Amino acid sequence: MADWVSAPDPRLLGRTVARIAFDEATIAERVRELGAEITSAYPDGDLLVLGLLKGSFIFLSDLVRQIVRPLQVDFLVASSYGEGTISSGNVRLLYDPETQLEGKHILLVEDIVDTGRTLNRLMDLLRARNPRSLEICALLHKHIAHELKYETKFIGYDAPHEFLVGYGLDHAESFRHLPYIASLL
Ligand code: IMP
Ligand code: MG
Repeated sequence: MADWVSAPDPRLLGRTVARIAFDEATIAERVRELGAEITSAYPDGDLLVLGLLKGSFIFLSDLVRQIVRPLQVDFLVASSYGEGTISSGNVRLLYDPETQLEGKHILLVEDIVDTGRTLNRLMDLLRARNPRSLEICALLHKHIAHELKYETKFIGYDAPHEFLVGYGLDHAESFRHLPYIASLL
């Protein structure tokens, strides 16, 4: 085991890691595979990779460097009303991509699919802009999303049913910068 499991990690605000779900090297390998899958899935046309902020920022930056074809990057900022670790289902856009979406292959990149409510709303919004295609890539999927109307075409990992932090995932805005994905004690 690496040092940071046994030694206190100064990034953790005094909290302790209960379990490293995915370590840095494991994530890097899976992101390489996803990049290869996406590269071959989009042989032609304009590809726009749309990152859903903030959670996708680290995953997206690693992922786009593994996609070996022309592409553009933009972001969406959505906000669900309400606090804490429960998703409320009311989603509004705080930042709308400036790039034109019509006629493009759009790949929406999300950190983790939980209830799927965020994605349902966003996908409805994006579909109305007439993209050439519209798919989802999520690093993690909890597979408890009974309400999800759209299939997630590219999935990094099936997520354990724990609250995870790191590699972009936060708890109350902290822990996004951990290079691994962990659950906290
Ligand atoms: P959904 O609308 O319920 O699918 O919520 C998805 C969003 O909730 C993700 O983009 C995350 O921001 C957040 N989320 C869901 N599960 C976790 C978790 O285990 N850790 C950190 N954030 C999570
Ligand atoms: Mg969050």
